[in-house]
Amino acid sequence: MSAESTYHTQWTTRWAFILAATGSAVGLGNIWRFPYMAGENGGGAFVLVYLLCIALIGLPVMMAEIAIGRRGRQSPINSFRTLARLGGHWVGWRFAGWLGVIAGFFILSFYSVVAGWALAYVIEAARGAFEGAALEDTRAIFGELVANPAALLFWHTVFMLMVGIVVARGVQSGIERAVRILMPALLLLLVALVLYAMNSGGFAEGLAFLFAPDFSRIGPGTFLAAMGQAFFTLSLGMGAIMVYGSYLESHASIPRTAGVIVVMDTAVALLAGLAIFPLIFALGLEVESGPALVFEIIPLAFGSMPWGSFFATLFFVLLVFAAWTSAISLIEPLVAYFSENRAWSRRFSAWTAVTAIWLAGLGSVVSFNVAADVELFFGMNWFAFIDFATNNVMLPLGGLLIAMFVAWVLPKAVVMEEIGLGGAKFTLWYTLIRFITPIGVVAVFLNAIGVI
Ligand code: TRP
Repeated sequence: MSAESTYHTQWTTRWAFILAATGSAVGLGNIWRFPYMAGENGGGAFVLVYLLCIALIGLPVMMAEIAIGRRGRQSPINSFRTLARLGGHWVGWRFAGWLGVIAGFFILSFYSVVAGWALAYVIEAARGAFEGAALEDTRAIFGELVANPAALLFWHTVFMLMVGIVVARGVQSGIERAVRILMPALLLLLVALVLYAMNSGGFAEGLAFLFAPDFSRIGPGTFLAAMGQAFFTLSLGMGAIMVYGSYLESHASIPRTAGVIVVMDTAVALLAGLAIFPLIFALGLEVESGPALVFEIIPLAFGSMPWGSFFATLFFVLLVFAAWTSAISLIEPLVAYFSENRAWSRRFSAWTAVTAIWLAGLGSVVSFNVAADVELFFGMNWFAFIDFATNNVMLPLGGLLIAMFVAWVLPKAVVMEEIGLGGAKFTLWYTLIRFITPIGVVAVFLNAIGVI
């Protein structure tokens, strides 16, 4: 029941898929969002729950996503529909694809604004603004940037143009090469930052904060925040990995590829945490600085290093590339759907999607300045609400539907063929997506609204 379509392209090798999916997973979520979420949610306890979510929900759901994509060989919306129809099930499953497309749309709308900060920081670093900077200086630089809607609008526009250029040409051409070179460079630079942090005087404290769970710090929302972060950082629950999986050759092992992606993504997040928290403690700073955290602390470290401006520039260039390869995957399900369902060219599909997302991003542009205090929903401003609704609600819900689809809708024989595991390993994974993932997600939702 494979639905191969003639126009559907494929990655050149299994490694190309791994690189693209890793490019999708590794991004602002690892370097910007993970540290500040850990800081805001009590450190070790959050990290522990996050790691559990990665292992028990993230990895199994990633395998399920790749399996749907590869079997369906279309955009997520159409893969869901085709596979449901072929199995004689309700074609309304395609709404799971729609949910993902909508989530990706809104995630990219704020993601692009934050990627714009990284772009602005490339310029700041290159002109030496961080050299010898004290905390007041890096705070002022960040504060001035986000207080200026025109600057944020400019960088948001530049970033969305960058996304449009790649997506309009088709995702394969650029991503493989970019990730192959840039990802190792980013890893090296992070390791260098961790080494620097080791000598900062706060390493033991930073390590303890991240890895010694203090369970009294688990509060309402900790589980939800950790689960949301797990989905976000692995690019799960909205069809990004699914659409990349649809370009994957039939022989590649899904468990092995998913394993590599998960390990690399988790390593980058933990390295970012290890680079940042020791400095925070060495300097006696607050861990709860929210979205500003990384943008205030990382420049500080570079500012006091030999060749600091050079390395800081390199770091933010790499961060921009990491964000770029992630952003492309956020928009791809929508663009793939447009080009499949409306006789639109890929170029027109891409620029239509980019324009719409750019417009939605204006809400995030003003969320850090003129409209910062405009409480739209539940006391949150636009940015905070979109971030919460997408990452903490829509992605886990999408992941739940993906797991249920593979576990209860697709015939078991088909699933076994795709996953290719035998015996106990298959049973373990199948049990995870049949029961543990759905129950886990529902339990976390109920916990968040205070029922359990
Ligand atoms: N995982 C990326 C990051 O950590 C962001 C991202 C890309 C994403 N594609 C996604 C998040 C799909 C959720 C869903 O920066």
